[in-house]
Amino acid sequence: MSTLHALVKSILDPVYKTLRDMTFKKIVLAGASGNLGACFLRNLLESADHVFQVTVLTRSKTNGAESFLSAAGLPLSSPNKPSVVSVDCDDHPALVQSLKGHDVVIAAIAEGYCHAN
Ligand SMILES: NC(=O)c1ccc[n+]([C@@H]2O[C@H](COP(=O)([O-])OP(=O)(O)OC[C@H]3O[C@@H](n4cnc5c(N)ncnc54)[C@H](OP(=O)(O)O)[C@@H]3O)[C@@H](O)[C@H]2O)c1
Repeated sequence: MSTLHALVKSILDPVYKTLRDMTFKKIVLAGASGNLGACFLRNLLESADHVFQVTVLTRSKTNGAESFLSAAGLPLSSPNKPSVVSVDCDDHPALVQSLKGHDVVIAAIAEGYCHAN
C-alpha cells in the first residue's frame, strides 16, 4: 500500500462508514484516473461490505472500467466494477445529467479545472 493510499484510507474510512450508515450508496467520483482519485476508488471498491456503486467521470471516450481498476491497483477480475461515464466536468449540462440518480459526489479533479460553472 502506497503512503498516499494509506493516508487516504485513514481519512476516508470514517467518512465511508458515515455514508454507509446514512445509506448513501451511489457515488460519483470525478478524477478517478488521477493520483488521488485512484486511491479514492480503491478505498470505495475495497470497502468491507462492497456496498458502494461507483460511477467514475472521465473526459476519456475510450477508457473502460478495467483501466480505472488498473490505475487503482485492483485486479481486473474485481467483482465490484465501476460504471464509467465520459463527460467533461466543464460541460455543465452534461455534468448535471451525469450526476442524476447518485447520492454523493467526490471530486478529485486536478488544478486547472475551471470552477466557473
Ligand atoms: N496527488 C496528491 O498527493 C494530492 C494531495 C492532496 C490534494 N491533491 C489535490 O487533489 C486534486 C487531484 O490531484 P491529482 O494529483 O490526483 O491530479 P491528477 O493525477 O492530475 O488527476 C487529475 C484528474 O482530474 C481529472 N480531470 C481534470 N479535468 C477534468 C475535467 N474537466 N473533467 C473531468 N475530469 C477532469 C482527470 O480525469 P480524466 O483525465 O480521466 O478526464 C484526472 O483523473 C488536485 O486538486 C490536487 O491539488 C492532490
